[in-house]
Amino acid sequence: MHVLEPGTEVPDPLAPYLDVDRSRPAHECWVTGHMVAGIDGTAAIDGRVGSLSTAPDQALFRSMRQIADIVMVGAETVRREGYGPVRLSEEARAQRVGAGKPGNPPVAVISRSLDLDWTARLFTDAPEDARTHVITCTAADPARRAEAEKAATVVDAGRDAVEPAAALRALADLGHRVVLCEGGPTWLGELVAADRLDELCLSISPLMGGDPLPVCVNPAGSGIARFALKGAMADGDTLFLRYETDRQGGARDA
Ligand SMILES: NC(=O)c1ccc[n+]([C@@H]2O[C@H](COP(=O)([O-])OP(=O)(O)OC[C@H]3O[C@@H](n4cnc5c(N)ncnc54)[C@H](OP(=O)(O)O)[C@@H]3O)[C@@H](O)[C@H]2O)c1
Repeated sequence: MHVLEPGTEVPDPLAPYLDVDRSRPAHECWVTGHMVAGIDGTAAIDGRVGSLSTAPDQALFRSMRQIADIVMVGAETVRREGYGPVRLSEEARAQRVGAGKPGNPPVAVISRSLDLDWTARLFTDAPEDARTHVITCTAADPARRAEAEKAATVVDAGRDAVEPAAALRALADLGHRVVLCEGGPTWLGELVAADRLDELCLSISPLMGGDPLPVCVNPAGSGIARFALKGAMADGDTLFLRYETDRQGGARDA
């Protein structure tokens, strides 16, 4: 047991996250989850994440997208949060372009229903080199798929539902090697259950009493996934924890 004493000041909160070596994933691509929870594990307040997130968490949320080849998110989060395309700072865009990547990472939405607003900014304002992707399954409604294809790059990854491994294989085939998953809890739970989450960056906000929605919704029978704590920082009352899946220690108990 150690006491965590205030350590050295971190001038750029993103720096410890940029330093992580994500070049050797266990599977096709490296998947980082980035979530915020209350002390009681709640993932939303009145159906939104805004009041749960503190100012330093919001700043990290925006800048963290810099690590991503693509930002992946469940459709319910897109609907509730009114997702738009990613807009990084000018400096971050310049760095990415220098590294041969698009200035902004595209967003990939996971959806079976394809019940999405195709006139929303997420689809109409995405830059040409970062077109929004929709990852769906072959059982999706054909008429809705036709609408989706006009607005987005549509990827099939499964028959009756999107299978996490198939989705990530498809993204890797498109050249996306670092995937940043911004939730929501349901889709995150499916990634964990499929052993496809490599890293979790979890902010703990100093409050309790939000929605009865945990930060990760585990599908029935998904077993226990184990993680190793790799980093801990604090800004005021917000805690920033970074975990990696503990594959050496046996990542999963069935
Ligand atoms: N605390 C945080 O960091 C955080 C982060 C993100 C979101 N949130 C909050 O979480 C809530 C939304 O999360 P949620 O867990 O309800 O939903 P979610 O994970 O964002 O999205 C669930 C939806 O994703 C699609 N989906 C998931 N698994 C699928 C599969 N295997 N195949 C096909 N489609 C699949 C389905 O979309 P269709 O219905 O279109 O088929 C499903 O309804 C909101 O309140 C939001 O504010 C919190």
